[in-house]
Amino acid sequence: MPLTSPKEMFAAAYAGGYAVGAFNVNNMEIIQGIMGAAASEKSPVILQVSAGARKYAGQVYIMKLVEAALQEDPSIPVVVHLDHGPSFEMCRDCIDGGFTSVMIDGSHLPYEENIAITKQVVDYAHPRGVWVEAELGKLAGIEEHVSSAEHVYTDPDEAVDFVRRTGCDSLAVAIGTSHGAYKFKGEARLDFERLQTISNKLPGYPLVLHGASSVPQEFVALCNKYGGQVGGAKGVPEDMLRKAAGMGVCKINVDTDIRLALTASIRQFLTEHPEQFDPRGYLKPARDAVQNMVAHKIRNVMGSSGKA
Ligand code: G3H
Ligand code: 13P
Ligand code: ZN
Repeated sequence: MPLTSPKEMFAAAYAGGYAVGAFNVNNMEIIQGIMGAAASEKSPVILQVSAGARKYAGQVYIMKLVEAALQEDPSIPVVVHLDHGPSFEMCRDCIDGGFTSVMIDGSHLPYEENIAITKQVVDYAHPRGVWVEAELGKLAGIEEHVSSAEHVYTDPDEAVDFVRRTGCDSLAVAIGTSHGAYKFKGEARLDFERLQTISNKLPGYPLVLHGASSVPQEFVALCNKYGGQVGGAKGVPEDMLRKAAGMGVCKINVDTDIRLALTASIRQFLTEHPEQFDPRGYLKPARDAVQNMVAHKIRNVMGSSGKA
């Protein structure tokens, strides 16, 4: 199967009350781990590439790796998506390079500027059959080009106006999640009332949740046991993500949990086998750890098993 558009994927997810996992990829092992999980769970999947990942691996390398994965398992619907596209130019390059979906992230811009840049990307993407995700509201925390000390939750009426005026296909909303491993100081809280209001005002419209890693404590403990210093890390509880998936959220983004699974495994292996230096020795269990974590997430968080 060639790469697919999120269109049918999200329509089925919306109707079925589940979400599709969007997992960040940087290299071969991460792609193989995610694809292995999607294949064993018979689940659709989104592989997403950040500006940083694109710079690290190169867009062509990533696309060729994805091509290889599709050849190996043609039965799984796969979307390749630009995560947090910082400019029209990068969105255009990804569209021209075969991505089936891009995000233009104008969330840090004044409202009218966010509308203008999103519309510019939509006008380029739609005639080429490419899906556009945009973002309204600000997640607290730091991304490569966006830094916000405070959450600015998405205003439901603005969301309706934004979607109508830009024509974007899906919208990332800010309801209390944040990027990285340190999401909550005290108890985890998401603004479900706001999510429900947005969803009611945009019936049938797919919403996106960024910053949705759960930060499994077993990976944090393993990292710390084997020399890491990942103190006080806390993620979004799985039951909250499951709930969001039934409220119009069709795409749930996960990057941090992949980093934790991979790093915990490599730390453990290298500590337990100090004499070994063949990268295959530690990358194989690390790839397995990513696969197991993603399979768990597809089954228990996304609810997308068997939907391929
Ligand atoms: O939302 C951010 C993603 O986790 C990507 O992170 O920019 O470090 O690749 P990155
Ligand atoms: P996490 O840092 O919670 O994994 O979020 C990833 C994300 O939103 C990528 O866009
Ligand atoms: Zn994000």
